[in-house]
Amino acid sequence: MNKKGRILTGHRPTGPRHIGHLSGTLETWTELQDAYECFFLVADLHVLTTDHSHPELIRDNIINLLADWLAAGIDPQRSTLVLQSAIPAHAQLAMLLGMLTSVARLERVPTYKDQARELNLQPSLGLLTYPVLQTADILLYKADTVPVGEDQLPHLEVSREIARRFNQQYGETFPEPQALLSHTPRLPGIDNRSMHTSYGNAIFLKDTPEETRSKIMDMYTDPTRIHADDPGHVEGNPLFEYFDAFDHDRSEVEELKERYRLGKVGDVEVKRRLAEVVNSYLAPLRQRRGELSAHPDGLLDILRTGTEQARSMAEITLAEVQEKMGLSLSKEVIAPKPGVGVLNPLLYIP
Ligand code: TRP
Repeated sequence: MNKKGRILTGHRPTGPRHIGHLSGTLETWTELQDAYECFFLVADLHVLTTDHSHPELIRDNIINLLADWLAAGIDPQRSTLVLQSAIPAHAQLAMLLGMLTSVARLERVPTYKDQARELNLQPSLGLLTYPVLQTADILLYKADTVPVGEDQLPHLEVSREIARRFNQQYGETFPEPQALLSHTPRLPGIDNRSMHTSYGNAIFLKDTPEETRSKIMDMYTDPTRIHADDPGHVEGNPLFEYFDAFDHDRSEVEELKERYRLGKVGDVEVKRRLAEVVNSYLAPLRQRRGELSAHPDGLLDILRTGTEQARSMAEITLAEVQEKMGLSLSKEVIAPKPGVGVLNPLLYIP
């Protein structure tokens, strides 16, 4: 089948995925696999830009991320899963693209300014060049489409500028990557702030039905409503945002909203029903997730296969860039001579 284009997108393995990731990104990625050639990147190098003090967490976080992705419908038969740190070309291309990027431009990236303020310490060089590494991730595979959340748009703008600058200077090489924004509204957390792993307000894909139920029973609702027979507000009420995202039975949702507005149904009853709805929506995913995470070696095999495929492509692009930037001699110096076979360069150290 003729594909519409090539996608590269990814997540940082920072912790378990939650239902906000599911309805906002993972379901979109899953659907895009039909129409696009897809690369899904486990961006473990990017984790270190904001936290390099917990090296012991990264491996498990990667395995959990893979289980969440595959359970949500990412299909390794059709898509390529890539481990960023296993392909040195990501770091190498980032270094080369850094030559075309000004420090002042990176200092203006809003996520950098926010993070620098939040972290309350001197931001690292790695954090400053975050968008350059992200650009290398995309351009190494010459991806033309990048499905991301709105928060990533400033990074993608940097990527587009770098691609343009490279093409202008060295000749047409890279497509200018386009963001593809998801149309699904963002789900709030159970406290009605934005859902975030570190806020303690998320429902995780790995949560049990009981954990999910108890989080939902604790959810924030309409604060103006004191008694169950007070008329309630549906708009801006996270309970109904969840119903909209997870209840297939539209007429049930409309009827509940109507009763809520009229003060004819209490919050407890609404929450009980919501817990059932969310749990039955997640049931098949949890079933798959359980099977997948029982075999972490299988997950790592999938990552290995994808990363090997990706690596050959990445090396071709890197060689092209090195040549265009004047580094072609590096290839001649290290490439084995025809007929000599592949030699281990380490053997030649005197
Ligand atoms: N910065 C992205 C995030 O935190 C993760 C990421 C790394 C990414 N490299 C990428 C996303 C390349 C899209 C394309 O969500």
